Amino acid sequence: MCGIIGYIGKQKASKILINALKNLEYRGYDSAGIAVREATDIKSVKKTGRVANVEAEVHQANLKGGVGIGHTRWATHGGVTEANTHPHISSDGKFVLVHNGVIENYQSLRKYLEEKGFDFKSETDTEAIVNLIAYHYRKEPDNTEDRFTSAVRKALIHLEGTYGIAVLCVDCPNEMVGARNGSPLILGLGKDENFLASDVSAFASRSKDVVYLNEGDIVHLHSDKYDITTIDSRNVSAIVESLDWDIEESELGNYTHFMEKEIFEQPQALENSMRGRFSDDNSTAKLGGIDLSPRELRSVDRFVMFGCGTTWHACLAAEYLIERFARIPVEVEYASEFRYRNAPISDDSLIFAFSQSGETIDTLAAMRESNRKGFRTLAITNVVGSSIARQTNGGGIYQHVGPEIGVASTKAFTSQVLLSSMIALYMGRLRDMSLGDGTNYVDALKSCPEMVDRILKQADSIREIAVRYSKFNDFLFMGRQAMFPIALEGALKLKEISYIHAEGYPAAEMKHGPIALISEDCPSVFLATSGRIMKKTLANMQEVKARNGKVISIVPEGTEVPKECADDVIFIPRCHEAIHPILATIPLQLLSYYIAVERGCDVDKPRNLAKSVTVE
Ligand code: G6P
Repeated sequence: MCGIIGYIGKQKASKILINALKNLEYRGYDSAGIAVREATDIKSVKKTGRVANVEAEVHQANLKGGVGIGHTRWATHGGVTEANTHPHISSDGKFVLVHNGVIENYQSLRKYLEEKGFDFKSETDTEAIVNLIAYHYRKEPDNTEDRFTSAVRKALIHLEGTYGIAVLCVDCPNEMVGARNGSPLILGLGKDENFLASDVSAFASRSKDVVYLNEGDIVHLHSDKYDITTIDSRNVSAIVESLDWDIEESELGNYTHFMEKEIFEQPQALENSMRGRFSDDNSTAKLGGIDLSPRELRSVDRFVMFGCGTTWHACLAAEYLIERFARIPVEVEYASEFRYRNAPISDDSLIFAFSQSGETIDTLAAMRESNRKGFRTLAITNVVGSSIARQTNGGGIYQHVGPEIGVASTKAFTSQVLLSSMIALYMGRLRDMSLGDGTNYVDALKSCPEMVDRILKQADSIREIAVRYSKFNDFLFMGRQAMFPIALEGALKLKEISYIHAEGYPAAEMKHGPIALISEDCPSVFLATSGRIMKKTLANMQEVKARNGKVISIVPEGTEVPKECADDVIFIPRCHEAIHPILATIPLQLLSYYIAVERGCDVDKPRNLAKSVTVE
């Protein structure tokens, strides 16, 4: 949440900052602003609303300087106003700062600083940081070497909470200081220019050499050099890594929305998630990122999986797949609950964090807590070098689906489910899954991209259904067994991008409450993919129809759905159970996408949401 960028170099900073903010906008879009060093002064331009609003003002301001910082905000402390928009300036005018995170003790700091004569103009927690830096700077003797960094360091010692910051000082025209604790911050190294950002997408078009800063690092930047120290003044030797980033992947191309692009990218994304991950004899998965031997994995008696939002639904799908095919119990938790619940967990449990961004603070905190307790922790993440990826102690699995920019997750979700299915296969084959069953399973996984493609080819007819249903304000999504998490995901997708009230339920639970909602104004979407329980699900559909409810059903090709059961039927290819949840997800993504478009919603930036949730 909130995206920050810093640029120090010889180019026009304002242009680079605005472009960077456009790439960071998925992190929050309540307001945006930049500050640029101009001659002896620092000038800032801020606006509420989207980056496009501030872009127009920046153009008019014609800022020429080569050093600057920028911010796109997801409001936490204080409303969406220009006063609360970053960058924030210290009341003596010496420092300008952008911040991602939450300072928990800002009220006591503010009170202290007000008593010392500092004025506050906003309601934000951030203003306490910038004034605290100014306060410590004032106390440093004029001739202190590195007075700027020293003042930042002294201020940070007093902060409780999380931060990724970039700071400019009026007295140090060609310098910038950044620091992180709990919020991501990455250093980008270019030729005669350097960057600081919450995410590499902000500068990937100009720099491919990056340093992932660690918790508690402070970086002092010039355009041609940098040095990193810890908050307690120890030197850090930086590890420079090379970015494997194809800039086209983060561009919209011929699509109208990133969500649409990412839905249609799924065949390729799933292919990329699987590439090189099958044994030579085609009978099991190869998960090279997991640093545990087959022997250690055989002794696992339980998986504990956690994540947030859509990613939590992927954990639930993993539960069904792993229990069904590997016969290992799986416990699924919301990361935010797990962290504080202190659940009893056996020593032979394996902890698995799921996170597309690798930065979700609740998931990160739950992983740290598990590490602290000495458990084996692993992760499925999409972002290489992300905080969660770097904090596992047992390795993990990268998704390799490329950047996901639409706030509502699509390709990252299906890839997480696919990788869960591969874990089920791998663990099953370590135990009692036969070679023949393993080979069939691998064939099914390999066929998944092509089957997803076949569903995507039905996009026009799904759009037509979506348009007919777009006026309804309440929906139910129902599915049994492994379709239950997909029903939850279908409901969430619709709710988050079109603001329609939607709920997901196990189909049989309908009679225990949700049936009261059924009427001609509340359609139901039924996922009925499993032959074993098809008849029962068809009966549930009929119960809805008997109460004048409309039904959209999603069933395997060749299924006879009687007229009295459903108004509309979407077919998915017949397939192995291991990929049912993936295939059933695709029509739901298309339905919610087209309904949201029909309702004129801002699909890629739904109100109040942010893609990377870095505050608790
Ligand atoms: C936010 C996003 C969701 C995402 C969730 C978890 O709520 O809007 O789409 O599923 O965070 O994100 P993660 O990056 O941890 O998978």
